Parts: sequence; structure tokens; C-alpha cells
Amino acid sequence: MSTEFALIGHQESWDAASDVVSALRGPDHQPIPKDEIREILPWIPPRVVCHVDVHSKAGYSSRGSYIDSFIPPDRLSSNYVRENLIRVHKAAECAIRAGAKVVSLGGFSSILLEGSLDKLPDRDGTAFTTGNSLTVAFVVEGIVKMCAQQGRELARSVMLIVGATGDVGSGCARCLAPMVGRVLLHARNVGRLDTLKNELESSYSQVEVVLDGERFPADVDIVICAASVASPSLLLKGISQDAIVCDAGYPKNLLPSLSMHRKTMFHGGLGQVTGGMTFAPDLSGVLNRHPFPDVAHGCLLEGMVLALEGRYEEYSKGRGLITVKKVEEIHAMAMRHGICLAPFYNSGGAIESVEMSASEGCAG
Ligand SMILES: NC(=O)c1ccc[n+]([C@@H]2O[C@H](COP(=O)([O-])OP(=O)(O)OC[C@H]3O[C@@H](n4cnc5c(N)ncnc54)[C@H](OP(=O)(O)O)[C@@H]3O)[C@@H](O)[C@H]2O)c1
Repeated sequence: MSTEFALIGHQESWDAASDVVSALRGPDHQPIPKDEIREILPWIPPRVVCHVDVHSKAGYSSRGSYIDSFIPPDRLSSNYVRENLIRVHKAAECAIRAGAKVVSLGGFSSILLEGSLDKLPDRDGTAFTTGNSLTVAFVVEGIVKMCAQQGRELARSVMLIVGATGDVGSGCARCLAPMVGRVLLHARNVGRLDTLKNELESSYSQVEVVLDGERFPADVDIVICAASVASPSLLLKGISQDAIVCDAGYPKNLLPSLSMHRKTMFHGGLGQVTGGMTFAPDLSGVLNRHPFPDVAHGCLLEGMVLALEGRYEEYSKGRGLITVKKVEEIHAMAMRHGICLAPFYNSGGAIESVEMSASEGCAG
């Protein structure tokens, strides 16, 4: 089977980065000590780490490659933009060389490019997608499902989006604003917040800009965290313990201690391939660090869905251009192949049983 898709990723922790390097070296070599990994990683060039086969519930399969750009987990801040952009460029070259027809730009890869696919190498027959439409679809579905489980009425809820003007945040705002009572938008750039507020007001919901990130209004019922922070750092001061919180960040926006004991706080934007995924060599336990099998980020899954559909196109591109129509379309395509909302979990582990969410997730 030829390579149809490629997934460009990077690890969010040193443990994960260390596991990938050990897996690449093979079982015959001693693992490299953690402190040495920190020195070595910046020198490892982007490369194909393993092949991935994704199996659709509709009976199809597609083969792809996982390419790690080896961005060091502590170098995601703006200080390293130049060297990280070179890494993303080289990872894209790997995908083109591998013959991928569609490539997902996972995590910070698309953030570094600011959605501009023109910054990628010349390509012939390889389409790149940020994967953010499917990410938004899973965030939205997660919020709707968690509200239903908790008996909350969406239409009367106050929803705060942190990182609201970003690609993921603004896509979530467009999808959810018509469903909730009031929307609060938070980010740092006031001009972009005002532009989004003006756009959303046409969807009949009450929209407000919240500039103070140190203390949020206490009447917030739902929070979506979609800020591109380089490490977990947001505290959500002022937000009630009962609020439903979806942390869609990669790396996570929230400190692990915040979500540990809260059953209404979940990691969002994730999907589960119910037909299964196989990795060669078998890096499933290394690349899937979620507490459920066959779970991946929406951005990576979007490339797989497009490959299964034979739609080798730049499905999600630019920044702040995600529409409700595209989100609904990619969600329907994903569901057709049994790629569904992942079961809920947070830093404390699973929030509900695997059986329950696996059967519920693809039912609707
Ligand atoms: N779960 C998944 O499958 C998945 C998929 C794709 C992306 N992601 C993650 O989702 C997050 C957002 O991605 P994106 O593509 O939407 O990024 P983006 O387009 O760069 O947007 C980032 C947003 O965060 C805001 N922001 C940055 N730092 C902030 C801070 N300290 N406080 C408040 N707001 C801040 C930005 O606005 P200002 O600069 O004006 O503050 C902007 O609104 C990233 O962590 C990304 O890795 C997750």
C-alpha cells in the first residue's frame, strides 16, 4: 500500500520525546538518560518515525507516515520561531518525499506557519491541512455531550473562550455562539477580539470581550481553552468549580493540578478511530498517550479522514477561516469512517467508562 497521508507532530513532554527517540533506536539499545535527551533532541532532524494504517468502519484502510519534527518541548515559545519554522519546513519535505497526498500539520506546526501554507516547500500533488476543522468539530461535540450528561441547558449558558481569536477558538465560537445564551471572548489582542465580536453578533447571541485574564466573571458555565501557550500555565481564576471546561490546547493550557479532581473538566478536540489504527514499528503506546486505545488529536485525524475519503485537498487553511459548514462536513466524513469523539478524560484519568462513550460516541 502506498503512503496516502502524513501526520506532522511534535511531543509535548520530555518523557514523550524520550520514548520516541528510544523507539527509533530499537530494543537492542539502552534508553538514553533523560538529561542527555535534552541535549540530543535539538540536533535530531525531522524524519519519518513509523507507518500508520487507519481502518475505517466502512471497510476501507489508508496508509500514512508519522513524521516527528522533534521540536524540543521547552522551545515552543516565540523565541524559537525561526528554528521551529525550519523544522516544520523539513518535516514537510519528508512528507512530500514520502509521496503523501494529504498532510496534517499537528499542534504548533500550523501555528508557526500562522495558517499560511505558502510558507511550505514547493509541492506537486501534496496537499497540506491544519486539521483544525475536525478539531473544532470534536470540541463542539464534547461541549454539547458534556452539557447533556451534566443536565445543563446550553441555551441558558454563559460560555467563555480563551484564545477566542485563534483558528480553533474562532471556529468554536462560530459553531457554539448560536447555541448558547452569552459568549465571552478572551485573548490578548484587542483589535482581533473586537473584529470577532462584531462578526458573531450577527448570530443573535450576546457577545462580550473580556480583557482581564487574571480573574474571569463568576457566572461562566462553560469554558473552552484554545490558547497557543507554550506550556500549561492558565489558572482560570474566578471560574466556578462546577463549570464545564474543555482544554483543547496542545500543550495543554491548564496546569494538571487544576483538572485532576474535576469531572466536568476534559481534554478536548480528540477523536477515536473505532476501526483501529496500527503502527509499524509498533509505537502505539509511545504516540498514543491518552488513556484509551486509538485516540488522536483532531488535527491529525483530519488528514486520515481526508485520505479515507480520497479528498486530497487543503481542507483547513488560513487562520480564523473555519466555517460551521466545513466543521459539519468534516464531522460527517469522520463519523462515516467510525472516527468519533474520544471518551472524556483529564489529567486524573478517565471521566467515564470506555464502553459507554465508545458506543455513544458513534451512535449519533
Ligand atoms: N486538540 C487538538 O486536536 C488540537 C488541534 C489543533 C490545535 N490544537 C491546539 O489548540 C491551541 C490553539 O491552536 P490555534 O491553531 O487556534 O492557534 P492560533 O490560531 O495561534 O490561536 C491562538 C489563540 O490563543 C491566543 N493566546 C495566545 N497566548 C495567549 C495567552 N497567554 N492568553 C490568552 N490568549 C492567548 C491568541 O490570541 P492573542 O495572541 O491575541 O492572545 C489566539 O487567540 C494550540 O494549543 C494548539 O496546539 C489542538
